[in-house]
Amino acid sequence: MTDTNDLSQLEADILKAIDAAADLAALEAVRIGTLGKKGSVSQQMAALGKMAPEERKEFGQAVNLVKTRVSDALESRKALLEGAALEARLRSETADITLPVRLGPLSEGRIHPVSQVMDELIEIFADLGFAVAEGPDIETDDYNFTKLNIPEEHPARQEHDTFYFNPGEDGSRLVLRTHTSPVQIRTMLKQKPPIRIIAPGRVYRCDSDQTHTPMFHQIEALVIDEETHMGHLKWVLEEMCKAFFEVDQVTMRFRASHFPFTEPSAEIDIDKAALGKPGEWLEIGGCGMVHPNVLRNCGLDPDKYQGFAFGMGIDRMAMLKYGIPDLRAFFGADLRWLKHYGFSVLDQPTLSGGLSG
Ligand code: DAH
Repeated sequence: MTDTNDLSQLEADILKAIDAAADLAALEAVRIGTLGKKGSVSQQMAALGKMAPEERKEFGQAVNLVKTRVSDALESRKALLEGAALEARLRSETADITLPVRLGPLSEGRIHPVSQVMDELIEIFADLGFAVAEGPDIETDDYNFTKLNIPEEHPARQEHDTFYFNPGEDGSRLVLRTHTSPVQIRTMLKQKPPIRIIAPGRVYRCDSDQTHTPMFHQIEALVIDEETHMGHLKWVLEEMCKAFFEVDQVTMRFRASHFPFTEPSAEIDIDKAALGKPGEWLEIGGCGMVHPNVLRNCGLDPDKYQGFAFGMGIDRMAMLKYGIPDLRAFFGADLRWLKHYGFSVLDQPTLSGGLSG
């Protein structure tokens, strides 16, 4: 074929074929059939070699133009088909990112209500600027009692139903801590004021019935500074209760009481109105201004420093908030109970996101 008319016909056929290619595979077949080694356009190029020079010049230019136009047409058709293929794929592979997370094995595990309530309280107190302090479950008699102004033979020791270890050679005894208050001592011995800590943890008393278990949980708070007073204590407790019970208002009552490590001391009651039972008082813990003897026992000058402390029962707070009737079930390790009262691993309590989800 050396005729430019035939060449135009060839080009027109090829462009039609390109237009008709319905997908990328069909288009590739057209490309091989035209620009490939043995393709129709390539054959025209090969034919140039056998032509007389003047003929070759004219025909060569024409073939080159055909080649360029065919190759451009292939390119643009390819871009179009690729775009369409991507469109189709996106349509068929849509992911609805608003669907809830598929939990898998995580949905099996449950956070125990006690852990949940501890996390909630830690979150609340962290927001108020408190750090978390810790102490051991096995405590010295000195820290659990003596340095807290509960000397040997003090009647408060009997009230605590202490689990004692056998005395050591020097006569000193270890105990399972009966309250979280020894963490106050550990903190004050380690750190100079200002102090602002909470200490959640396990405590032990040799006592067991429907409302008492030999192991239970408390949360302790200690604030020591130069001017900290009862007003601060009441405010902190009120803020804590409002945040914890997730209500705007709580009525609290501070009933005069006695603890060896505080002076004055009070028991903290809250009006159950916040829980839908107005007029009923419920005791949630003890509190007071840290006794000067306790400060002195920790090397702090009571003329310079003062502060408050309180201790509350975590298990009781959990029962109250989540309507759990029987304390003993907390420690029964019954999976059905945990499934019912437990919390999802993925619902971390936060003040911004909601404490209890
Ligand atoms: N430790 C006390 C108890 O277990 C509770 C308590 C009362 C803690 C008054 C305090 C406090 O920090 O100030 O019964």
